[in-house]
Amino acid sequence: MSGTDERWASRIGLILAVAGNAVGLGNFLRFPAQAINNGGGAFIIPYLVSLVVMGIPLLWVEWSIGRHGGQYGYHSTPGLLQALGKAKILKYFGIFGIFTNLVVAAYYCYIESWTLAYTFFSLFDVFNGMPKEEVINYFKSYLGSGSGFFNISPMAIFFFLITLGLNLWVLSRGISAGIEKAGKILMPMLILFGIFLAIRTLTIDKGEDGAIENAIAGLNFLWTPQFDSLANPKVWLAAAGQVFFTLSVGMGSIHCYAAYLRKNDDIALNAVTAGFMNEFVEVVLGGSIVIPIAVAYLGLASLSAFSGFGMSFMTLPVLFEKWDPFLSALGGVTWFGLLFFAGITSSIAMGQPVMAFLQDSFKFTRKKSTIAFGVAVFLLALPTIILYDHGAFDEYDFWVGTFSLVVFALVESVIFLWIFGIDKAWIEINKGADIKIPIVFKYVLKYITPTFIIAVFVGSLIQPTGGEWSAAFSSLFSGGGWPLDPSSVLGSLLHLGETNPDKILVTDLTRLLLLSVFVVIGLFIRYAWKIKLNKEPKTEEA
Ligand code: ALA
Repeated sequence: MSGTDERWASRIGLILAVAGNAVGLGNFLRFPAQAINNGGGAFIIPYLVSLVVMGIPLLWVEWSIGRHGGQYGYHSTPGLLQALGKAKILKYFGIFGIFTNLVVAAYYCYIESWTLAYTFFSLFDVFNGMPKEEVINYFKSYLGSGSGFFNISPMAIFFFLITLGLNLWVLSRGISAGIEKAGKILMPMLILFGIFLAIRTLTIDKGEDGAIENAIAGLNFLWTPQFDSLANPKVWLAAAGQVFFTLSVGMGSIHCYAAYLRKNDDIALNAVTAGFMNEFVEVVLGGSIVIPIAVAYLGLASLSAFSGFGMSFMTLPVLFEKWDPFLSALGGVTWFGLLFFAGITSSIAMGQPVMAFLQDSFKFTRKKSTIAFGVAVFLLALPTIILYDHGAFDEYDFWVGTFSLVVFALVESVIFLWIFGIDKAWIEINKGADIKIPIVFKYVLKYITPTFIIAVFVGSLIQPTGGEWSAAFSSLFSGGGWPLDPSSVLGSLLHLGETNPDKILVTDLTRLLLLSVFVVIGLFIRYAWKIKLNKEPKTEEA
């Protein structure tokens, strides 16, 4: 079956697949880390507001772009955007939807492979009796850290290859027999594992197995709102960034899944259902595991150490060991197994748009496009694996997994809501709808969502030192200049605060590589349209 005539087999399968796309490592690893680093309860209000005014509207935008362009035989963002208007340049904005999926898939599959490895380590009780320091060193040696300039770890590469192979196997089976089936099997298991872990964690009482706090204290940390955070742009930026990552908006993968819908299939309700399923898993399950267990056994003060994707691999195995031998193995297997299921249902969603582009544009068979995607992911993942210590992985995550999402979301919103036009967009969103979306969202979509994304874009570009905006303005107006934070886009571009020459070299080479990938994808698109023009142009007659 060619990519063009494939369809989802059932509505529940579609929803689970789309929810699987969204539910990922971000829900269980990134969300708690962001919440902790931005003050717990201080984070939740900006997070929920970002969800309503930006996240959900973007879901509607992306589902609509996908279903609309799917009727013209497109399944990836170059064609899907081109189908929205006549300007020939539209397709080039679709570079993002291929680029982001391909590059994120590369480093994401790498983290996913850690979770697979750790599921086996937990099953074979590798961490039994291991003191904390040894568990930390185990993770470092697993990554090949400290073994010279390059991270060389045959074990990490072995698990990466297995993980990539599993992804490719699912993708090679197609939309309904591969992706949809994976969602139908893995999502319920993930939720089951998550419920088990949440219940076990939340019932830890002070004094039990050496707990120094009731686990519920972790929930209080997350759920006690702090209204003063509403005035802190740093928290807003982090919250909006998390909404992007967790919903997988701004990536190009939702568009692709929606492109396999029929003309009058509902998107209004489907988008919200899958989005809320993601939020349930993130806020309810994701919020009830890492933070409460860390608070129970290590205390509130320990939370500041939780940042990045790696912390859970160094800390949680030690904490599970506090339970009896059976429960500790079960804890490890369900936790890392859950992460693996969450990861793979997201990474296959990154593969499909890239493969669909090759199938639609160059008439690749599914098998050929699976192989092409696999080779590209392997080659792109290599720098993140062997130059992990020098920051190649972080560069991918920053430029592609974070910044590109915002840029593409802005671009697609302008194209869909302003160029295609809000009236046509509103009709498109509501066509075949099983719910009535309140009319106020028409205005939210047209004005608030794009403004919000622009604010996030500008904010991340020039975020001042420590996120202290008022101090930065005082400095600017008193002639002291704008104090850029090293984590801002401009600060990062200028290597602010970085003194290690090796790291600067690797960072620059990584950027060059990413830029080259972006340009090459642009050339592929150009070539694809050249072939197409020789046949029949497929842009919409506006
Ligand atoms: N949405 C996916 C995640 O949360 C990418 O991990």
